[in-house]
This record gives sequence, structure tokens and C-alpha cells, in this order.
Amino acid sequence: MTSNVLIVYYSQSGQLKEIIDKTTAVLLQDAEINLSTYKIEMEEEFPFPWDFYSFFNAFPDSFLQKPHKIKRIPADILNQKYDLILMYYQVWFLSPSIPINSFLQNQEAKQLLNGSRIVTISGTRNMWFLAQEKIKVLLKTNQAKLVGNIALVDHTPNLISAITIVNWMFSGVKKKMFNFLPFPGISKKTIDESERFGNILLHSIKQNEYKNLQHNLIDADAVVVKPFLVSVDTKGNRMFKIWSKIIDTKQGNQRKKFLKLFYYYLIFAIWIISPLVNLLYYIFYPFNFLKYKKQIKYYQGIE
Ligand SMILES: Cc1cc2nc3c(=O)[nH]c(=O)nc-3n(C[C@H](O)[C@H](O)[C@H](O)COP(=O)(O)O)c2cc1C
Repeated sequence: MTSNVLIVYYSQSGQLKEIIDKTTAVLLQDAEINLSTYKIEMEEEFPFPWDFYSFFNAFPDSFLQKPHKIKRIPADILNQKYDLILMYYQVWFLSPSIPINSFLQNQEAKQLLNGSRIVTISGTRNMWFLAQEKIKVLLKTNQAKLVGNIALVDHTPNLISAITIVNWMFSGVKKKMFNFLPFPGISKKTIDESERFGNILLHSIKQNEYKNLQHNLIDADAVVVKPFLVSVDTKGNRMFKIWSKIIDTKQGNQRKKFLKLFYYYLIFAIWIISPLVNLLYYIFYPFNFLKYKKQIKYYQGIE
């Protein structure tokens, strides 16, 4: 029996495309799987490499989940019925990126998503937890069923990855900063090893059975949850809510001024607040042990 599987993605640097190639390699080789790919295309593309203004100007719309216009979804993609949709996405400012948000709120996409089974696969720096919650809400609105989640991240320490990713985003080149810092983004090893998830996906597709999919993915370390990062994400979301609402009301030079202030706030948050959150995390770890255990279980799950 042939199964139709659709890949939906957006990627600026091509990192997510590399992840797609690895995680779908076995699906591509299977004669009974009909794999289609749809790349989300924006009416007005975001720059890559980014410049200072465009990067921070993407913050309010990302965080407030304001959709932008995307190009029409090709008819041959829309006219198929899919057994499974693999949705590859990245996080921008603790929210699903604008292209993914725009897709999930697009009228034509609703047709694709309605009643479909979805596996989400994110490729981020390391802070994807609350963005995934926002994706869950949008999937529910579209009557789509989340059946699995894979989260690929940069495993270098939080402060190091914060420096290297900025250098990457503003230069467009994945290079070792100062010649000694690790490469930015998700490591080649992590991407190469993501091939193993393809076999787990293949098994579910072949059996047409998705009940154990997330369980099998978790067993293969597809979702590693660090409560310290969840805590930074949660606190960041609270502050971003205030900042995004303020900046959203500003235009022209006023907006530029506020975006600069937001940039200073981010530096402060990353270099002062997040190490403090980390310190408090370790001090109070024994008292919060049960809470963290629950958190890990929740964010590894798909409910
Ligand atoms: C504007 C912007 C904001 C980002 N914010 C976050 C974030 O909040 N959390 C995170 O883990 N990664 C963040 N990233 C990294 C992306 O999730 C992603 O890993 C990176 O942009 C590479 O994706 P690509 O496949 O589109 O090239 C951000 C990237 C950009 C460009």
C-alpha cells in the first residue's frame, strides 16, 4: 500500500534542509512511500545574512504571531491527501518563525492541515519549548493531529551558542568564531545522527500506527528537555510579551529607537539574567526536583 508523505519546511541557511535530507533518507528509498516537498515561500523574503534592523524588526511580528503573506501553495501539493505531514520549523524570538506562523494561519494551508497527522521537527539554537506550545495551539485550530515531535538543538553551552549564532546570522557563514569557538548551529554530528529518526518514522508509516511514535522517538533521544532552558524560555516569554506590545505600537524612528533598547535588554537578559537563572536552578534543584521531572515529561510529550 502506498503512503503519501508531505514535507513542509522553510530554511534560510539550509540547516533544516540538511536535517530533512537525513531524517527522510530511508523514506526516500522506500518504493511504497510517495514523498512530496513543499518549501514555504514568502511574498517578501527575509534577508540572509541579516542586518541589524531587519533582525530586530522581525521580533514583534514573530512574537505576536502576526502572519505575513506567503506565495500560493502549488496546486499539485494541495490536491493530494497525505497520510503524514512532516513539518520542519525554526524558532524566532521564542516563537515559531514568521514563515511557519504564516503557513499555519494561511487559508490554503488549512486545507492541507485539516484532519492530517503531523510530526513537528524543529532545528533551533536550544529554546524551542514554548514555541512548540504555540505550534500545538495552531495545529489544534486547524484540526490537525500532532503525532510526534523531534527537537534538534545546538548542544554547546547556552552563552557560547548565543554568541556563535549571532555571528552566523549576521555573516551568513557557518565558521568558527575567533578560530576557536565551536561551529554555530546544530552540529554536523547531531544532524548526521538524526538519520535514525527516519527508521522510527518509517515504522509508523508502514504500520499506519502512530500511537507509540512519540514514545519510540523519546527512547531514541529525539527530545532532550533541560529545565533550566525551560525556565529561561518561560521568563523570556513574559518579558517579550511586554516588549513586543510596546514596539508594535511604534513607527519610523521611534520604532528604531525601541528596537535598539530591546537589543540592549537582550544583551542584559542573556549575560546577566540567564546566568542568574542558571545559578538559582542549581541552588534550588533539590527542592524543585519533582517539578522538573514533571516538566521534562510534559515537554517531551505531544499532549
Ligand atoms: C530572527 C531569529 C531569531 C531566533 N530566535 C531563536 C530563539 O528564540 N530560540 C532558538 O532556539 N533559536 C532561535 N533562532 C535560531 C533559529 O531557530 C534557527 O536555528 C536558525 O535561524 C537556523 O535556521 P534556518 O534553517 O532557517 O537557517 C533565531 C534565528 C533568527 C534568524
